[in-house]
Amino acid sequence: MKEGLTPKIVRREDYTPYPWQITDLRLRFEIDHRITTVTAEMDLAWLGDGEVGAIRLDGQCLELVGVELDGRPLRAGEYTVDADSLVIHEPARECSLRTQVRIRPQENTALEGLYASGEFLLTQCEAEGFRKITYFPDRPDVMTNYEVTLEADRDRYPVLLSNGNAVESGDSGDGRHWVRWCDPFRKPAYLFALVAGRLEHVEDRFTTRSGREVTLRIYVEPQNLDKCAYAMGALIRSMQWDEERFGLEYDLDIYNIVATDDFNMGAMENKSLNIFNSKYVLARPDTATDMDYQSIEGVIGHEYFHNWTGNRVTCRDWFQLTLKEGLTVFRDQEFTSDMQSRAVKRIQDVRDLRTRQFPEDAGPMSHPIRPDRYQEINNFYTMTVYQKGAAVIRMCHTLLGEEGFQKGMRLYFERHDGAAVTCDDFIAAMADANGVDLDRFGRWYSQSGTPEVRVRTEYRADEGRYIVELEQQTPPTHDQSEKQPLLIPFGIGLLTPEGAEIPLRLDGEEAAAGTSRLLVLDEREQRFEFVDVPCRPVPSLLRDFSAPVKLTYDYAPEDLEVLMRHDTDAFVRWEAAQLLAQRAIMNNRQAFREGREMQPDAGLERAFQALLSDRTTDPAQLAETMRLPGEDYLGDLMAEVDVDGLHAARNFTRTTLARSLENEFLRVYDLLDDGAAYNDSGASVARRSLKNVCLGYLADLPSGVERAQRQFRASDNMTDTVAALRALVHRKAPGHREALEQFEKRWASDPLVMDKWFVLQVTCPGADTVERVAELLDHPAFSLSNPNKVRSVVGAFAMLNPTGFHADSGAGYAQVADVVLQLDSRNPQVAARIASAFNGWKRYDESRRSLMRAQLERIRSASPLSADVGEIVGNALDDA
Ligand code: TRP
Ligand code: ZN
Repeated sequence: MKEGLTPKIVRREDYTPYPWQITDLRLRFEIDHRITTVTAEMDLAWLGDGEVGAIRLDGQCLELVGVELDGRPLRAGEYTVDADSLVIHEPARECSLRTQVRIRPQENTALEGLYASGEFLLTQCEAEGFRKITYFPDRPDVMTNYEVTLEADRDRYPVLLSNGNAVESGDSGDGRHWVRWCDPFRKPAYLFALVAGRLEHVEDRFTTRSGREVTLRIYVEPQNLDKCAYAMGALIRSMQWDEERFGLEYDLDIYNIVATDDFNMGAMENKSLNIFNSKYVLARPDTATDMDYQSIEGVIGHEYFHNWTGNRVTCRDWFQLTLKEGLTVFRDQEFTSDMQSRAVKRIQDVRDLRTRQFPEDAGPMSHPIRPDRYQEINNFYTMTVYQKGAAVIRMCHTLLGEEGFQKGMRLYFERHDGAAVTCDDFIAAMADANGVDLDRFGRWYSQSGTPEVRVRTEYRADEGRYIVELEQQTPPTHDQSEKQPLLIPFGIGLLTPEGAEIPLRLDGEEAAAGTSRLLVLDEREQRFEFVDVPCRPVPSLLRDFSAPVKLTYDYAPEDLEVLMRHDTDAFVRWEAAQLLAQRAIMNNRQAFREGREMQPDAGLERAFQALLSDRTTDPAQLAETMRLPGEDYLGDLMAEVDVDGLHAARNFTRTTLARSLENEFLRVYDLLDDGAAYNDSGASVARRSLKNVCLGYLADLPSGVERAQRQFRASDNMTDTVAALRALVHRKAPGHREALEQFEKRWASDPLVMDKWFVLQVTCPGADTVERVAELLDHPAFSLSNPNKVRSVVGAFAMLNPTGFHADSGAGYAQVADVVLQLDSRNPQVAARIASAFNGWKRYDESRRSLMRAQLERIRSASPLSADVGEIVGNALDDA
């Protein structure tokens, strides 16, 4: 933070309940595209024991027009207004307050509160956006009943939506009309929403298990009506699945989704009026990739599942964010696993956690899934709160089993439906429902950092005994120096060298039972002894990635080959291949650094040969297995990231595999590229995935470039188009410029497709890409006001292009910092996300370190600087 400015820190331990009950809230919006007038009437009752105190309401960027208490306009002195609050000094124990404010949605560039997107108006209130709409206690534990009247010009705003049911509507003369909405469920302000504009919708219906008829609508701008069908299907599947798997039904007669191009995040679960980034709604085979389809299903599910885990039971305060987010991510992961391939989904989630959450937890923003302090809550919608939070819920599920977990969920809803609660309440429900003690498990909520689990094994042939020693240790993090042992569920199996599963019997057990076990490590060090082990086994460790830890075990290369080919656990099979590739790349990186020649790796080649001739494994799983570990993941394994060495070694590995297995890659590619028309079945998705992984290897060779060119011309779907275009662009292959131009011409008017065009270019490896970034910032389709565009051009460059962002000139750093500074005053939330690209700065060589530090300091010294960016760069520079 700048001198003289002490950052305001909010602490979990300072929680105090709000002293007023707000029994009702009536809101009236007189909507105009330039100025909207908001009138709020609330009935309050004092909850505290002592003397009645003041009424303290949050409010920001509001122009106060009038305040009335119990029907009487208040005079100056009877209330105080400042930049973020309104205080009513001497209210009665029971009273009624009426405020009127004016707001300017058109000027709201932060996309928080009421703002404009194209021709329509919409809101985003989580976490603390409601205070930019009206004066109110903007905290999740203050819940009330909402009655909302929207009044606007009928031509400009024919559709007027809010939460709950539309109960009345009418004409108000002068070409204006009004609609009144009533939400029968009490809710916190962050779940409020309104939408007004000329939107069109698609409609479907769902009948709940108990016979409630629900109208489902997706509202979009007219040109997008033909891209809503998949999202609607996903919504219906979500509703069905939550009934079947969790026994949870929808609770209103209407469920609305609105898609907008201007959104800071993915989507928002406002009660019965979800608002989505259009990226997670709109899809047609020629505009969206298979991955986009999967994300749409996942995010539609996520927001729908929040209706129970988030809305019906919400958070007491924002430190408890993972209560709803970790749990809801776990639920959406399970949904996708049940709808698609469980194995593939697990691999994707593990990769995501390890490449994005692990580094976050080892850097300056490290925090427990339930943080203890923050400056700006928007900075805590993190990989840690979401993905590690989901991993913690998953461990709970693993320990209790599906039945025990569901028992816990039922008790959780029985106890807390309609309330704002804490993570401790959730754990207590799980523990009580199952009659177990989860105290030690609870440490996952308060301790940050990624635990390391070191494994040592010993086989005693004469005794037929196999000893497994587990040792855990969590390195100190930026926010916590002392670490305690955690409760770690550790999945394990044992294979014979031929790959057969060995029945498992732990010392002291009557007989062998099963071939997969869950060991529970809850001390620093523990020893487990398996008996009746007929031969030196190959250990299959951390099955299903049973805990979010870093595993250290010195696998023999031949053991990895056995695991990759034969293990029954999909994660372990994938991990074995990843480890083989990782070792090959790391060895060559060393060679590159020492000026030695890089060498092909015979073991890795053998492994790939096996993968390319595997005709039984799901092609989608094979595709995941053949994707080489990313430069980001590999870099995170090093004490000091070797940007150029890793890039060179990974490229070398890819190219040598392609060369020595060219025929095998071509055979698989040509087999899968069967010329059949696009089809959205899981089997076709899987085939495209493997085909395009093969293309990624082949594109290093002339035969592959030829296939990429052909695929680009012939493709009838966006998955194949983007894969081909990426292959051409990233190799700067002949014809790549023409292909880019052709693509641009065809899709210039589709913002989501243009985002892909941007990402493809800014992720092209190499120091010169920064110049392309600068050009694209001036492209007519780019806009600094649109978060998707900023993420596609600047975010993707900074996070997904190591040799571009970390170019040794420092030009990448300067470019990204320029954008952070330009964006800060417009949209601090998005600026802070981009600024976090510098979080890893201490992990690089001295020259890059000082270049990054200079940019961080440049950002920090800007004045004014938002609290959002201030917190990120402040933490990054802290104790530098
Ligand atoms: N609750 C949303 C979700 O995870 C997250 C979200 C949407 C959000 N928009 C936001 C968080 C804006 C902070 C700010 O589903
Ligand atoms: Zn969520």
